[in-house]
Amino acid sequence: MCGIVGYIGSKPVKEILIDGLRELEYRGYDSAGIAVLQNHQFSLFKAVGKLINLEEKAQSYESTGFSVGIGHTRWATHGKPTELNAHPHVGQNSYVVHNGIIENYQELKAMLTSKGVQFLSQTDTEVIVHLFEYHLKTSPTPFDAFTKTLEELEGAYAILLVNASADNTIFFAKHGSPMILGRNREGETLFGSSDAALIGKCNEVIYLEDGHYGFASSDTVALFDSKNVSIALNFTPLSENKLSAQKEGFRFFMEKEIYEQSTVLSDTLMGRLHDETVYFEELDSSLFTGISEIKLCACGTSYHAALTASYLFERHSRIKTSVEIASEFRYREPLLTPDTLFVVISQSGETADTLESLKMAKKAGLKTLVICNVDNSSMVRLADASILTRAGIEKGVASTKAFATQVAVLWMLSLFIAHERSTLTPSDLAHQIKILRSIPSIVKVDVTLHEQLRRLSKRYLHGHGFFFIGRDVFFPLALEGALKLKEISYLHAEGYPSGEMKHGPIALADPELFTIALLPQHKLYDKTKSNVEELSARDSTICSISPLDFDKADDHIRTHMHDDYMQEFFEMMVVLQLLSMEIAVRLGNDVDMPRNLAKSVTVE
Ligand code: F6R
Repeated sequence: MCGIVGYIGSKPVKEILIDGLRELEYRGYDSAGIAVLQNHQFSLFKAVGKLINLEEKAQSYESTGFSVGIGHTRWATHGKPTELNAHPHVGQNSYVVHNGIIENYQELKAMLTSKGVQFLSQTDTEVIVHLFEYHLKTSPTPFDAFTKTLEELEGAYAILLVNASADNTIFFAKHGSPMILGRNREGETLFGSSDAALIGKCNEVIYLEDGHYGFASSDTVALFDSKNVSIALNFTPLSENKLSAQKEGFRFFMEKEIYEQSTVLSDTLMGRLHDETVYFEELDSSLFTGISEIKLCACGTSYHAALTASYLFERHSRIKTSVEIASEFRYREPLLTPDTLFVVISQSGETADTLESLKMAKKAGLKTLVICNVDNSSMVRLADASILTRAGIEKGVASTKAFATQVAVLWMLSLFIAHERSTLTPSDLAHQIKILRSIPSIVKVDVTLHEQLRRLSKRYLHGHGFFFIGRDVFFPLALEGALKLKEISYLHAEGYPSGEMKHGPIALADPELFTIALLPQHKLYDKTKSNVEELSARDSTICSISPLDFDKADDHIRTHMHDDYMQEFFEMMVVLQLLSMEIAVRLGNDVDMPRNLAKSVTVE
């Protein structure tokens, strides 16, 4: 997602800004820009696409001597990825870069427009720079105007703003989106939305907290808290190791990615939920004209997201839905009819089997849609329409946040179609949207639970195998839990619908067979419980995951009480991810790069 850098000093500013942005590339972006202020004059460069395009645009620009600069990589949310929508955004004599979302931008824009301000972009960010200049007319100093501006902003933000009348200064603020201020022994000050951008350039940093704001100039840094009280500068040393810095204090990328699911899911939902409808900027409702069936196709974890979606599509959108494993679909001579919407799901957008399946569907004349995490990937370029999951780059080979965001997008899509086909009442839709909005807070990792799972993991390092079982959407979740465990612990694990155990698999039950039972309160609790009791009666060791007590469990992981089964789904997803990770850690395995696996499978 978006990235921010800032610099105050005398080195070549363009190189420093672009270098910092390059360190943030792993987060994903679709346009970039920099603004440099030197001797009261601004230079601005913006480009759509990769940083190389920005470098080309700024090729002839060279700076010598003191300057201040701000830079940004943008992942489009409000408005398309165009140069006009790329940051920095410009007023008459000021520039701003911003991460987050200004929730009241429409009211602010209306107020500023009524005062004669002209807007150039479709972004929420642009209001910040105009609001600042509006206040500057009546404020004694630019910092006063900046403070007044912050008082009127609602939502989440990390902001850097520069103004020509204060040509050695950057004004900064943090509220809900990350921002780090750093300095080095040469007296330079830098900013970054992640410390990855500051490694090697700063030796100490301050991780700003929500409500912190202030200004930094060539010789001063002034920092204030949310009560407008000046606070001391508590710098901490910054690691010099890039890889460990990118992990932001976590032991593995997988752990970091599990912990950041709350933030990325907020990004996934951002701008897409209205009170009674779901809105996808990318989708034209004509995509669904003449469609009476949906075919979902994917591999691995993405297949599990597809299988989860098949329950939601039939339940909410009342549309016939089938699910295909791409490697099977390709060669089984499937019957394809033009009333079928063919939906592929892929984190990378490059998986060979899924890509070939998409080509087959296109060749057969089907309408196609891809749910993907990587813009401009082969699948996104090929499909008729695409929805991006906005998970940011996933580095751990075992997929976590990509799965979470795929399920969230597919769930939203089921509601989008339900709205088109009037298969849910407005109040049911409103209820679903309310539940969706709660998901980012539900997946926040509870550190006490994480510690319980860490301790519990030592009891699950042996045995002859694991059954992960559940019903309804908890069956694909069981499949995903088993896959996670297999991938990183190398222990044998299978996912099953819990009602299927008695048709064969139960023959394996004994104390060395571990059953991980997903027992949600709000979906077929009694039915699943009976199935788990059957396993318990055959002496399988039972680890239940449920908000309700279960007296047949050998171990019990208590989840929170929720109103809806999808909330339980997302909380249990986090439990399964953490449990697998902790088992793999105890076994001494390479969590981020497990043996035999690749992140993107571009061969058959
Ligand atoms: C498992 C995992 C894989 C991928 C699969 C498809 O943790 O990551 O099973 O889900 O290889 O990859 P994408 O989604 O990129 O098509």
